[in-house]
Amino acid sequence: MVRLVLAIALLVAAGTAAFAQQQPAPRVIEVNTPPLVPYRIVGNTIPEPLTAQPGDPVRGKRVVTDATNGTCVLCHAMPLPEEPNHGNIAPSLAGIGSRITVPELRLRLVDAKRINPDTIMLSYYRLHDLTRVQQQYVGRTYWAAQDVEDAIAYLMTLK
Ligand code: HEC
Repeated sequence: MVRLVLAIALLVAAGTAAFAQQQPAPRVIEVNTPPLVPYRIVGNTIPEPLTAQPGDPVRGKRVVTDATNGTCVLCHAMPLPEEPNHGNIAPSLAGIGSRITVPELRLRLVDAKRINPDTIMLSYYRLHDLTRVQQQYVGRTYWAAQDVEDAIAYLMTLK
């Protein structure tokens, strides 16, 4: 009986290992678009922070609510009663910190089109593959790398 249980346990373990091997490895893309900091996309995530300085949630709140550079409330409702108008064409960001991981959020903010090529959401830290950019915007992103990290730190407080 003990042997049978052991045999079954081994079979299950072997099966699990075989299944794990069948999972395709996540796609890895190295993005190197100077003057932006180079980063690595793994599946639907950017696992490593863009900057050495940890994100500051207080500054991040200012970044995402900045009327010219933040613009999240154009499309999303947010738990910010002080904001007069909230969009409703995108999912509410209330509780986003419980639904998303930091690496997923980082790719979403850096380059949302990598997640959904048809999305209307802005890419806040993207320079590649843009077409017909007006001269004054060439080589400029909405946000700096630190803005991305600070915004993540703030958004993850929305539990
Ligand atoms: C022009 C409209 C628009 C703007 C501006 C915008 N988003 Fe989005 N966002 C969307 C849409 C639409 C989706 C739904 C998914 C998709 O289209 O990929 C989305 C999805 C998301 C998601 C995933 C939501 C989930 O529940 O999985 C997050 C997080 C997010 N946006 C954060 C932000 C933040 C933070 C900002 C501001 C810095 C912002 N968005 C600005 C349109 C927008």
